[in-house]
Amino acid sequence: MLSNASSEATQEVLEEYYRELEGFSLAPLWQVQETALIPEPVSKASPYIWHWRDLEPRALRAGELIGTADAERRVLMLLNPSIKDRIATTNSLFSGLQIVMPGEAAKAHRHTPSALRFIINSDGGYTTVNGDRIPMEPGDLILTPNWTWHDHGNESGEPIIWLDGLDIPLVHLLEAVFFEPYPEDVQPVTEPIDSSTAKYGVGTLRPTWEEGSKESYSPLMRYPWDQTWATLQRLAPNVDGSPFDGVMMEYTNPNTGGPVMPTIACHVQMLRPGESTKAHRHTNGTIYHVVQGQGHSVVQGQKMDWEPKDVFCVPGWTYHEHVNASATEPAVLFSFTDTPVLKSLSLLREQAHPQDHQ
Ligand SMILES: [Fe+2]
Ligand SMILES: [Fe+2]
Repeated sequence: MLSNASSEATQEVLEEYYRELEGFSLAPLWQVQETALIPEPVSKASPYIWHWRDLEPRALRAGELIGTADAERRVLMLLNPSIKDRIATTNSLFSGLQIVMPGEAAKAHRHTPSALRFIINSDGGYTTVNGDRIPMEPGDLILTPNWTWHDHGNESGEPIIWLDGLDIPLVHLLEAVFFEPYPEDVQPVTEPIDSSTAKYGVGTLRPTWEEGSKESYSPLMRYPWDQTWATLQRLAPNVDGSPFDGVMMEYTNPNTGGPVMPTIACHVQMLRPGESTKAHRHTNGTIYHVVQGQGHSVVQGQKMDWEPKDVFCVPGWTYHEHVNASATEPAVLFSFTDTPVLKSLSLLREQAHPQDHQ
């Protein structure tokens, strides 16, 4: 017969037993079960906002102080204040501000962490990805996916600054980071300029001579701002959009309609004048960049006022809602998240706030 009787072992005997276990790299799960199997996620990351007024002067200062010989990449890391001893902005994603001074080139290399660039200031920069030289204009989204060769150059007279987004914390957790420098500083351009945009930029037309789904990431490396902005403007007056995100669009892989990379999904959202969203939370964490407009987000009950070019993060399973403070101008947020990873593992959950607002 089964029973639930307690043991009669004395405290002394138990302590002796636990001490002995340590010597064999063993430990009792029953003492930490509540830490291992919690009712719902509690992110180690905090909500945080980095203001452009603080970022810009420090990025430009790095341009003065640090030469290309001193840094493979001149990047100011946006580190979550609550995550110690890891390079992370949210639990699984990293973001940084990269600066390339006039006349400089950032050396060609490749790595297994995937990267995106959202261009903030540029008047003549380029990124070459696997021999395809791609122009960088403000508001463009540019991809350098897993193990693609990439280098960056600035042929203008002004510093170029963009927001980097990478899956470094996730790939480190999986112990799958590889890095390789290119044999020369700059890789040769082997494709016609901006060839991925020429081939895949329309979205509804696909070159038949290229295999449709050879890679897990998008074959389109540049999502130009003028197309993004035109789409938002065309849709905004005519749709309800999402109650939680306004007019939010996902950048897609034209071969699959899915996310741009297997580990990172990218979105752009317009909050129309005076629009405020309902609060929700989801297991994916998100990093936001304010493209234009002024407003605030409430994250875990904390109000964060934002202005153009600010960056803020919302940890996973944290309630958040957005408000466009202007009665006349739209606000636009770019964001990237780890939803593809969670979705593929059946771990993506979303919940509306029971009172709609925090
Ligand atoms: Fe890189
Ligand atoms: Fe959300």
